[in-house]
Amino acid sequence: MVKWLVALVACSLFSGSAVAQPRPSTGSAGPASAFSQILGRPTDRAVTISVLSAATVDAFVEYGTTRGSYTKKTPVRTVNAGTPAEFELGDLSPSTAYFYRVQTKAAGEVEFTSRDAAYFRTQRKQGETFTFGVQGDSHPERLGKMYDPELYIQTMQHVAKDAPDFYFLMGDDFSIERLIERGNKSQSAVDAIYAHQRGFLGLVGKSTPLMLVNGNHEQAAKYLLDGTANNFAVLAGKARTNFFPLPAPGGIYSGNAEPVEHIGLLRDYYAWEWGDALFVVIDPYWHSDVAVDNEAGTRAPQQPVESNRDAKRRARGNDAGGNQAEQLANRQGKGNRDLWQITLGEAQYQWLGKTLHESKAKFKFVFSHHVSGTGRGGVEVAGLYEWGGEDRRGVDRFFQMRPKWEKPIHDLLRDTGVTIFFQGHDHLYARQELDGVIYQTCPNPADPTFTAFNAQAYKSGDIFPNSGYLRVTVTPDSAKVEYVRSFRPQDEGEGKTNGSIAHSYVVKPREPTPPAQSKPPEPKR
Ligand SMILES: [Fe+2]
Repeated sequence: MVKWLVALVACSLFSGSAVAQPRPSTGSAGPASAFSQILGRPTDRAVTISVLSAATVDAFVEYGTTRGSYTKKTPVRTVNAGTPAEFELGDLSPSTAYFYRVQTKAAGEVEFTSRDAAYFRTQRKQGETFTFGVQGDSHPERLGKMYDPELYIQTMQHVAKDAPDFYFLMGDDFSIERLIERGNKSQSAVDAIYAHQRGFLGLVGKSTPLMLVNGNHEQAAKYLLDGTANNFAVLAGKARTNFFPLPAPGGIYSGNAEPVEHIGLLRDYYAWEWGDALFVVIDPYWHSDVAVDNEAGTRAPQQPVESNRDAKRRARGNDAGGNQAEQLANRQGKGNRDLWQITLGEAQYQWLGKTLHESKAKFKFVFSHHVSGTGRGGVEVAGLYEWGGEDRRGVDRFFQMRPKWEKPIHDLLRDTGVTIFFQGHDHLYARQELDGVIYQTCPNPADPTFTAFNAQAYKSGDIFPNSGYLRVTVTPDSAKVEYVRSFRPQDEGEGKTNGSIAHSYVVKPREPTPPAQSKPPEPKR
């Protein structure tokens, strides 16, 4: 079954024309690349369903609160071939499960055809138990090295079985760097990369809203903007927001309200509450004037950056230690970079502080591609730059470099009771803790080499290799994180059981640091 699905998807995945070429739908739960439906931005009263079809069709959505009984429907509208169309379902009841079905009719057809029946849920009330899922970098462009489509489908099937309320992608899912290297600057080429993922993500996304986190290889980044409508940042920004219905401020969501010329709202940072949890997605790439990690088309650094503690120790010990830190940075090709230039930006930081301070949720989950968007490691780099306040030599320069900010980002997470900070980027499972905040690095969903990449950058914590995803179950009293492994039949063996749990842990609601202790320190100037 899986192999058959892989063949169906892969032929469009790597053809470079996934959107334009009509292909037969499986008519089953399989990832029919010719047609996909992706849920997004659910609220207490509404949800959005994005429909993508390889052929132009007339379509509507019918829905209701009883399985198989669709008592309401949207107006019919035309869905043009290769262009996602969003159906907004409003006037819904809070904390309610809905069942829905998309109906389509191509030119020349008399009757509408029913697509897969699916479901969604409106905002949970406090006290309700629910689950959400998280995957690390999928990297479809690294076929065979870090990505296998059959394994990806395996992971998608595990997630779909869980029926989580949300599924987070931690970034590096839509690399456009080969297009940049080849100078292939066209919206259709970028769109095809985003459409590729829909064949796989549709397996989950038809019944689970997807939440994208921006990664470095997306190159959806401010430093590439040049004032024109035709640059890679604009093309990526438009594809992200057109192919995935991401949240913008309104309803239960807050977030980035600043439109960008030629794109509109970026929908790159956003937050909302659901049950007893606050979810916060943040992004440095759209807010830094420089390339945060790798510049477009170049390789990302493979070595870990100096940890703040090591840097501090060396700086205190002797000058040569500082030089060692600089040499390490130089080896990464970052020696001349001022990493204070990497930033969430003023507006996002102030929004993040307000969001975390004001929320009374028992659990607070924060998502970003990586600490400050670059480097390797988790808590090892959490003391650096605007995340931790210290420079590479261990000197605290926070209030010199960020004079209007309350405190470094890690301190903000600590003092507002953040439960777990989720990141991708390093391509392994790593659970660490710093000052009561869990730093959870997320595994790749489809790495056929089953490697713990960049493990040398992690000096503590629970480390496990790829592949799989995280299932998080939130109850009123606790949140349980489970690392669910994925294996193809040929990969299975002792200790390698598809669907097994490699690691799990339970966290309790955190008490934020009392106000007396969370006063901002006196600026050091
Ligand atoms: Fe990555």
